[in-house]
Amino acid sequence: MPFYDLKSGKTLIINGPASIKLLEGRASILGCPLPQKKQVVIKSWRSRPVYAYEDSKIEYTFGEGGSIEEVDGNTIPDEWLKTIQEIAELDQSILMFMGTSDSGKTSLATLGANIIVGMKKRCIFVDLDIGQSSICPPTTIGYVYLKNPLPDISYVRAESIEAVGYTSPTHIMARHVKAVENLYNNLKEKYSVQNLVIDVDGWINSEGAIHHKKELMKIFNPTHLLIIGDAYPGLQEYCEEYSIGLRELPPPIFVRKRSLEARKKLREMMYERFLRKSVVRTIPVSWVELEYITGENRVYKISQIINKLLVLFAEDKGIVIEEGLEEIYRIYGAGILCHLYDVNYTFSGIGLLTMFNLKKNLLKIYTSFQAQIKRIVLSSLIVSVEGSELFSTPPQALES
Ligand SMILES: Nc1ncnc2c1ncn2[C@@H]1O[C@H](COP(=O)(O)OP(=O)(O)OP(=O)(O)O)[C@@H](O)[C@H]1O
Ligand SMILES: [Mg+2]
Repeated sequence: MPFYDLKSGKTLIINGPASIKLLEGRASILGCPLPQKKQVVIKSWRSRPVYAYEDSKIEYTFGEGGSIEEVDGNTIPDEWLKTIQEIAELDQSILMFMGTSDSGKTSLATLGANIIVGMKKRCIFVDLDIGQSSICPPTTIGYVYLKNPLPDISYVRAESIEAVGYTSPTHIMARHVKAVENLYNNLKEKYSVQNLVIDVDGWINSEGAIHHKKELMKIFNPTHLLIIGDAYPGLQEYCEEYSIGLRELPPPIFVRKRSLEARKKLREMMYERFLRKSVVRTIPVSWVELEYITGENRVYKISQIINKLLVLFAEDKGIVIEEGLEEIYRIYGAGILCHLYDVNYTFSGIGLLTMFNLKKNLLKIYTSFQAQIKRIVLSSLIVSVEGSELFSTPPQALES
């Protein structure tokens, strides 16, 4: 197996799919010490910076598309490390982040969580990003109690999830905020909040976007807001008013920008992960409560929404669909992405609606959830059983 001699004070960027093993020396990924002689997997489309504290020998292999490159120094800015260290010393910290897409929010959040957990403190990672989720399926938000530092937060799954319904908050702000409130209430019931690290999306380029971020802050009352880049007009005053410690941090020294394609691929891996081991279940329509993400729950309207989605999908693909959803399943192995709830109305997983027949009073849903489904909420996305996002349109587009 090839290995790399990484000198002390240098960084090795590993672009997945790859796997590494620390053979000698001392190194870490975003504050997570690399275990000796244990394999660490870096998934496709993800990259991880390995920083060497001592001269280190790192065994590596990579698959198609994977690579490694050495960078001088630590790609984590000193300001990041200092700020996180200082905050981690506090008795309680609620950290929120702000920055554009690919600015390094999730990496900074991972560093924060790893340093806090490394100090043997309780830390809960909250993922509010419905587009580039780390621990829950895209279109949902969730949290997980971290027991150990992790090279990549996406190694763990959320222990509690709330559905939102779309891959960007722009068209679905109120629903996102409501879901965040529910998630926070659920978290408070389960844990006495000590340290929260709250990852968010990179939608910050308008007043509406900043307003939305403020709504999220109102729910969590963060002790600190870490901004990568410059603060936005008015944010300083806002933070002063609510006693939030505002810190402006520089961007990471090295960033591998992800194309829209790469972002889509990352989402697809997450859908696939949460659809694994699924089967098709047939359920009478009248046995479940159906709803569309905008709140529409009249069955005939939902039927119209499904038809409209199929028309838009057919137009996009340049095909004619005659037999509805079943045809999509047969040809593309795909269905409408749904959120499923159990008898207690608790979110229980995602599924794909692959048949909806009101005459027969039957629907089919492809899901790994095995218990009784009480409620199904349809989204405006068509996703395949392998997780491919074949089509999506803003939710409101299907109601007109
Ligand atoms: N300190 C760092 N050293 C090396 N690479 C980094 C660092 N910070 C971030 N990156 C890389 O840059 C890319 C973007 O980082 P990250 O996912 O943290 O950004 P983000 O702001 O969360 O993006 P998004 O808006 O998509 O959620 C990733 O590939 C990540 O591995
Ligand atoms: Mg992120």
